[in-house]
Amino acid sequence: MKSARYTRAIMRSAVLGVAFLRLVAMPTPAAAETGAEAWLRYSALSPQAARAYEKLPRNTVLLGESPVLKTAQQELIRDAAQMLGRSLRIRTSSSPQNAVILGKLTDLHALVPTLHAPQDLRADGYWLKAAKIHGSECLVVTASTDRGVLYGVFALLSKIARGESLAAIDIKDIDEVQQPYAPIRWVNQWDNLDGRIERGYGGPSIFFTDGNVRSDLTRAGQYARVLASIGINGCTINNVNAAPGILADSFIAQVSRIADVFRPWGVQLSLSVDLGSPKVMGGLDTFDPLDPRVAEWWRKKADEIYRRIPDFGGFVVKADSEGRLGPSTYGRTPADAANVIARALKPHGGVVFYRAFVYNHHLDWHDLKNDRAKAAYDNFHPLDGAFDDNVIIQIKNGPIDFQVREPASPLFAGLRRTNEAIELQITQEYTGQQRHLCFLIPMWKEVLGFDMHVDGNPVPVRDLVAGNVFHRPTGGFVGVANVGMDANWLGSPLAMANLYGFGRLAWDPNLTAEKIIDEWTRLTFGSDPLVNQTIAAMQLNSWHVYESYTGPLGAGTLTNILGNHYDPGPESSEENGWGQWHRADHAGIGMDRTIATGTGFIGQYPPDVQKLYESLANCPDNLLLFFHHVPYTYALHSGKTVIQHIYDSHYEGAKRAHDFIAQWRTLEGHIDDERYRDILARFEYQAGEAVVWRDAICTWIYRLSGIPDDKGRVGTPPSH
Ligand code: GCU
Repeated sequence: MKSARYTRAIMRSAVLGVAFLRLVAMPTPAAAETGAEAWLRYSALSPQAARAYEKLPRNTVLLGESPVLKTAQQELIRDAAQMLGRSLRIRTSSSPQNAVILGKLTDLHALVPTLHAPQDLRADGYWLKAAKIHGSECLVVTASTDRGVLYGVFALLSKIARGESLAAIDIKDIDEVQQPYAPIRWVNQWDNLDGRIERGYGGPSIFFTDGNVRSDLTRAGQYARVLASIGINGCTINNVNAAPGILADSFIAQVSRIADVFRPWGVQLSLSVDLGSPKVMGGLDTFDPLDPRVAEWWRKKADEIYRRIPDFGGFVVKADSEGRLGPSTYGRTPADAANVIARALKPHGGVVFYRAFVYNHHLDWHDLKNDRAKAAYDNFHPLDGAFDDNVIIQIKNGPIDFQVREPASPLFAGLRRTNEAIELQITQEYTGQQRHLCFLIPMWKEVLGFDMHVDGNPVPVRDLVAGNVFHRPTGGFVGVANVGMDANWLGSPLAMANLYGFGRLAWDPNLTAEKIIDEWTRLTFGSDPLVNQTIAAMQLNSWHVYESYTGPLGAGTLTNILGNHYDPGPESSEENGWGQWHRADHAGIGMDRTIATGTGFIGQYPPDVQKLYESLANCPDNLLLFFHHVPYTYALHSGKTVIQHIYDSHYEGAKRAHDFIAQWRTLEGHIDDERYRDILARFEYQAGEAVVWRDAICTWIYRLSGIPDDKGRVGTPPSH
């Protein structure tokens, strides 16, 4: 090695010695990375790691020729070559020796009639199976759908990239079935046609610019690949606050180009639509869902779309919400509105996602019985059973709006004869806008695992949304992603763990947050144990850290709700019609949502859940202020008073945010410099912002309550 003598020479230099030694002692930093490849980096394995895959067949055979199957084979060849340094050779089905065989079950049976797939292989599920075929060792990747084969290939590649077989099994012993938990695994993008993204923090739209579909859709195709790699099968490309122009025939022609780049990845395209479209842009004098002319208009529109996009997924509808037109204009119900559109889509196999985010944002705040949290259940529970089979009610995880902590929406248990899907927010609107680290999987796990005690039985939310409990055919998971043109998609490399985690949970909500972050970190940063452990620990702690300085005890994110949803602004929640009240005054804080004395929201839950939240004795501290109004001196289960907890939590949170800097610094030289520096700068910034939050909230509540901090920190000049 050239460096040995060189190093000795340098060591003799008294001036440079120490600094240089630090440099040479560190592992060689990896090449600079932009994050554009997300978790699909497939970097070359070390020779030792690659040895574990020596038995990976040398050839590949594709049974069938659909675009998705072709994608699967190309992906396999390219990525395996990148990781293992050798290319699989393409063979035909007449010579399947020593091959990775890719194909649907039906085609596989024709080739190997003796190979029997597991009986219950559902659509999109896959089977990875090592098998002797025509006397030679093969690896079969099969599924009942083309898309399932693609997912199987991505799963195999992920194993190789993470070196999974090193610890687990020899590749020749593989026999693994993976099934998706639910058929709906979609993302929504809130992209406007002018290229801006509502609540997007990763640059402008990858789909639209200046009122048109982009001419270069390379990024849109890459996005579809990223989505497919985690099993996501649909993407709604435009803002739920939909521009009616999206349905103009000329625009549909443009949109069909996006569907073309999605198609090879098995990602269905769908559109958000304005319910007023038949009138606003369709030339009718009404959009009354019960008017036959309106029904005809939607039917023709659907026919036109399917003519251009045969695999079109369907429509997302936000109506009677935040100023959007809706069926209430004509005294009609959400079921009337959803069904007229659903019937237009039905002959083509499309679905309607009707959002349960319907509420009055002009509520009278003087009335202590008013409660925005009640709106979704009040609007949709009475209509249970009135929706057509191809309607899915898309329900936000909590009853308000993606706050840092909310209880699970009671509506999940309030629909028995209606399809439902959970809507989770990947883009960090209320959780730091990608400038603060906030790994959301632990939050989503809490909601998905929450026991709704339906009819006295243990029933987690994940089973309700998947349709398992009431045997609904179509349900699942929708994530609001809002990636943009920034190289790293979401604006921050670490935020991509939320997109990855969403896909993994939609596939299998029983995966632990620890497993998900371990997978993501290995795929994103490589296999250095220090890197894996440090990043995993930081991510896993990050939601609690963020919560502790922005909205502890279930009060909501105490941000500026009338403005950017980012800076501290607790007063903006009060004395207006938006209903994000926390009801803080000189004596106490929190929304009384009890049945006994409050808004009655708790009464929307099944009886056992009511018991959990109704009494102060049972209500968990972390949701106390969501459900109860208490004096500042109220003692929590922890023994602390509410006010002291609020002070302590903010100081603790700001300190822990500051600690992220030192934790990240331990990774210098262990990851590429570009991402190291970018992320370091973000942590330095976050530490400062956490102090701003801490001081703003503590000062505000001190002024309101007049109760000093036991530790004497609050009310003194800002410190660090
Ligand atoms: C939030 C968000 C809006 C969005 C809305 C929705 O209120 O701030 O930008 O339109 O949710 O989910 O419809």
